[in-house]
Amino acid sequence: MMLKHFLALSEWPTDELWHIIKLAEHLKLELRGGGNKPILKNKILALVFQKPSLRTRVSFDVGMKQLGGDAIMLGPQEIGLGKRESIADIARVLSGYTHGIMARVFDHAHVVEMAEYASVPVINGLSDAWHPCQAMADLLTIYEHFGRLNGLKMAYVGDGNNMAASLSIAAARFGMGFSIGMPDGYMLPEEVIDRAVELAEESDGRIELVHDPVAAVRNADVVYTDTWVSMGQENETDKRREDLRPYQLNEALLAQAGKHAIAMHCLPAHRGDEITDAVADGPQSVIFQQAENRLHAQKAILVQLMANH
Ligand code: CP
Ligand code: NVA
Repeated sequence: MMLKHFLALSEWPTDELWHIIKLAEHLKLELRGGGNKPILKNKILALVFQKPSLRTRVSFDVGMKQLGGDAIMLGPQEIGLGKRESIADIARVLSGYTHGIMARVFDHAHVVEMAEYASVPVINGLSDAWHPCQAMADLLTIYEHFGRLNGLKMAYVGDGNNMAASLSIAAARFGMGFSIGMPDGYMLPEEVIDRAVELAEESDGRIELVHDPVAAVRNADVVYTDTWVSMGQENETDKRREDLRPYQLNEALLAQAGKHAIAMHCLPAHRGDEITDAVADGPQSVIFQQAENRLHAQKAILVQLMANH
């Protein structure tokens, strides 16, 4: 089977992403019915982290174990990605011991380089540019809630970061409307918007860029936000908190979308900043379902990449 990597949703055809969502649904049901079949028996996944993590670290580890395999954690202090040793050498060494590499990095080019030199599948567990595994868990969550993706409207308010980028592509691939409410200086990179618009044209989706958060969430089925200060941006904290304050997902903003809308956040949440307690813990919140769905969505990705490799 051809070696495949999971680095960005823009690189995967929509039908294959859809297959992953359906497989995730199946694996979730199977797990709840008593346990998964050991499809990845004796397979080992390396977990390489340049940044902290709760969900990604635990869900990949647990997911591998539930599928009959195992995972090895390699934190920032252990391998010194690109410092103690080159990324190319690390990729080639890990390929000799493991059957897959999940990497969380700062620079997206580093996970691309890892894929270039690895002879096992590489999964992007978050880079500064994209967070594709989270977006897959989110698509699964939306699908579970509404029973469809096509025709729904997702509004994203706040910082045009890696999460917003992956969601714009995810929505565009599945014929969803995607409305972005962001201030100047926090918009998604131009090339991401261009790609999302191009994909939306193919799927009958719609990408809308607005500055007004209320306009962004009007008639939305899904209202999404993420931290204002992504990992690596800590020295910009004060400015970001000030600039993005009008984009807080609070009860008043969510009310503009309507009672049927769901509120989403990839976590970790900075309660009182980008999301209030009332929304995060309110009846429209699905944030913990999203977190759980990381497990199921990633297991489907792992099976897809590693089962026959
Ligand atoms: N949402 C997410 O990726 O969480 P972690 O940073 O804890 O892995
Ligand atoms: N945008 C956030 C997502 C954390 C899961 C970050 O990159 O820190």
